[in-house]
Amino acid sequence: MARTFNVAVAGATGAVGTQMVACLEERRFPVKMLRPLASERSLGRTVKFQGQEVPVEVLNEDSFRGIDVALFSAGASVSLKYGPIAAQSGAIVVDNSSAFRMDPDIPLVVPEVNPDDIGLYTKRGIIANPNCSTIQMVVVLKPIHDAARIKRVVVSTYQAVSGTGQKAVEELAAQVRALLSGQDPVSKVYPHRIAFNVLPHIDVFLDNGYTKEEMKMVNETRKIMGDDSIRVTATTARVPVFYGHSEAVNLETEKKLSVDQVREMLANAPGVKVVDEPGSRQYPMPLDAAGQDLTLVGRIREDESIAHGINLWIVADNIRKGAATNAVQIAEVLAEKYL
Ligand code: A2P
Repeated sequence: MARTFNVAVAGATGAVGTQMVACLEERRFPVKMLRPLASERSLGRTVKFQGQEVPVEVLNEDSFRGIDVALFSAGASVSLKYGPIAAQSGAIVVDNSSAFRMDPDIPLVVPEVNPDDIGLYTKRGIIANPNCSTIQMVVVLKPIHDAARIKRVVVSTYQAVSGTGQKAVEELAAQVRALLSGQDPVSKVYPHRIAFNVLPHIDVFLDNGYTKEEMKMVNETRKIMGDDSIRVTATTARVPVFYGHSEAVNLETEKKLSVDQVREMLANAPGVKVVDEPGSRQYPMPLDAAGQDLTLVGRIREDESIAHGINLWIVADNIRKGAATNAVQIAEVLAEKYL
């Protein structure tokens, strides 16, 4: 009989953790036992898995005894504290927070791009899941880089509120309801109203004037692609969309590529779906990307302002491929090749 594994999900009641549990079930990950973990606030709650109501346990230092794979999505401070404890207990950690992503001893993995880096988990027992905006961009960049070497990337994002967590989803809904019924909207999660607004501010501001989210896209892209020579600059914005991040991406390549060549290589790229029929108004949109695992790419055009430039519009479900699905895909490779 094929091997099965004990799997813990830290943050199992959150926006990403809920989808991690759903992805384990949908993708038929060989789970022997599921242990959903959250804070004391969730005591008494259950998580639905394979038709059963599994009780949520409070995360503590003993939570990882007997666990083979631990998926973390409970924030960076929880990962920093409990990730190493889980690894020491013998679990392999797949961590969705930013806590370990740039640690040179910890692999940062998108299975369609750098699956072989998963093997480096042996150094610390931890694998980092990249930032959601970075994941959907690199699955599209990888085949283009392999064919024509990308010299520079200029990306602007339009990111959904679910990336901030369940509270932000509720805040947008509550603000829309308040505004449409003539009441004052309350802003707690974001520094400004998000309903019918755009905030050019994701994560904290850094000394160089960029936000941390923008610098994640710069640094993580290079690490995942294994090429520090790629120049990347980013502007990240929060938009009043519930699920699905969109990105306008401008690329400069060393070799000239035609639009047809780009379209063909993306049509064959794993995890990517080309949606690019402007004549019949077919292009990627968050409403279409939400709830599934493919990264949609369209609006493929030559950048006519430079010799070797391409413009793309990339959309994916930030909670699925941008977080939960990517983490479960990493766990699948672990189960198949390393455990
Ligand atoms: P809880 O629901 O008990 O607060 P989101 O990203 O949607 O905000 O979800 C965050 C997830 O991380 C939730 O499952 C939350 O549990 C969990 N979490 C947050 N802080 C802690 C903590 N200190 N210990 C354990 N789980 C935590």
